Amino acid sequence: MDRIRIRGGQPLTGKIRIGGAKNAALPLMVASLLTDETLTLSNLPHLADIQTLAHLLQQHGVAVELSADGDGREVAEGRVMSLRAAHIDNLVAPYELVRRMRASVLVLGPLVARFGEARVSLPGGCAIGTRPVNLHIDGLKALGAEIEIVGGYIEARAKNGLKGTILRLPQVSVGATEDLLMAAALADGVTVLENAAREPEVSDLARCLVAMGAEIEGIGSERLVITGKPRLHGARYRIMGDRIETGTYAIAAVISGGDLELVDADLEVIGVVAEALRAAGAEVDATKAGVRVQRNGGVIRGVDVMTQPFPGFPTDMQAQFMTLMTVAEGAAMVTETIFENRFMHVPELARMGANITVHGASAMIRGVPSLNGAPVMATDLRASVSLVLAGLAASGETMINRVYHLDRGYERLEEKLAACGADIERLKG
Ligand code: UD1
Repeated sequence: MDRIRIRGGQPLTGKIRIGGAKNAALPLMVASLLTDETLTLSNLPHLADIQTLAHLLQQHGVAVELSADGDGREVAEGRVMSLRAAHIDNLVAPYELVRRMRASVLVLGPLVARFGEARVSLPGGCAIGTRPVNLHIDGLKALGAEIEIVGGYIEARAKNGLKGTILRLPQVSVGATEDLLMAAALADGVTVLENAAREPEVSDLARCLVAMGAEIEGIGSERLVITGKPRLHGARYRIMGDRIETGTYAIAAVISGGDLELVDADLEVIGVVAEALRAAGAEVDATKAGVRVQRNGGVIRGVDVMTQPFPGFPTDMQAQFMTLMTVAEGAAMVTETIFENRFMHVPELARMGANITVHGASAMIRGVPSLNGAPVMATDLRASVSLVLAGLAASGETMINRVYHLDRGYERLEEKLAACGADIERLKG
């Protein structure tokens, strides 16, 4: 298993290109199931999760083609993927694939909407909590699907298609909103989706569906009105930039006392993270090419944050922000309201000298003057990258084990950081 070695203490300076958003790319790839024509996605990040989903779609019968951008600038400019679901011959999403990545469950809505039938494995637990899919199931039932759970699989049937309805999600869920949005696009009549997730990735999906011929009002709001169509058509769509990658490298600039320009980043979609970083003592500004983040001297101040659905502070930035707070002057409280078990980075940060006390869903961080390098273990995607950030700030050597988690969500992380002056290296093995 690969490891990453960091020798901390270098301020990072330079430019980092932000790739396409993983969490937008996954539902957009699934949207290809809604039509027999080709959906072409550009600015696709090169990540393990993308490959896992491509594999799942291929086993349903989707023809997937991956190419570099026109003139071969594959690595620098993101990839282009064409997906054509003209000959779907398998409506089963098997456990072996779904358990590897929860987002696979998103195929349920599109398959049952277009083919009247689907059999999708329950994803099971994951490192950050139980993460049920009841909202997906209840929503599809409200749209007229008959659903049974048999042998660990969700078996859904809607022989006469789905029917539009008024549907209020009892809890904000990104995945359930996306699943139901796709299903409603092919339902008969109008669906009103209330208490919908407003995450920018949901809006990216909605805009792509519109490009495919769907009729959706209220994009970006908590009330989506979808007028179902008998069929959708192909489209070309450019995936939005990754706001979590942006926020993560922004913290790399701040924690290392550096100055980074995040090319192709969008300040608007990291609003509340940018505010928290400014409150902590950073300068965060829009530039022509993206976003510039710097901390020239000056201390890092303690700032309290609480994770919330968008436009609140993202749970996917919680571990990284907590890492920044470990070296703040004063104390900070970080509260996690979305997932019940998302403090696995805490004991690892403690091994590097951080002073953190967890009380239920809140962590009290008392800043220390500096962290010390140590061998640590990555437990999930965002926890792993928080250890990379800690290693950049720590004195001495940090060795991060189990970095395969990082490869699910960060493309060429060590190359991007090394190009800006970090002493970081991947050790194969
Ligand atoms: C997505 C993101 C993930 C992010 C999360 C919250 C993708 C591929 N992943 O995950 O990176 O951390 O949003 O911003 O986009 N819930 C239920 N029942 C359901 C569905 C969800 O109880 O049927 C609960 C979850 O357990 C969780 C909360 O709702 O406590 C929010 O989860 P949700 O927004 O659905 O997260 P995902 O879509 O899985």
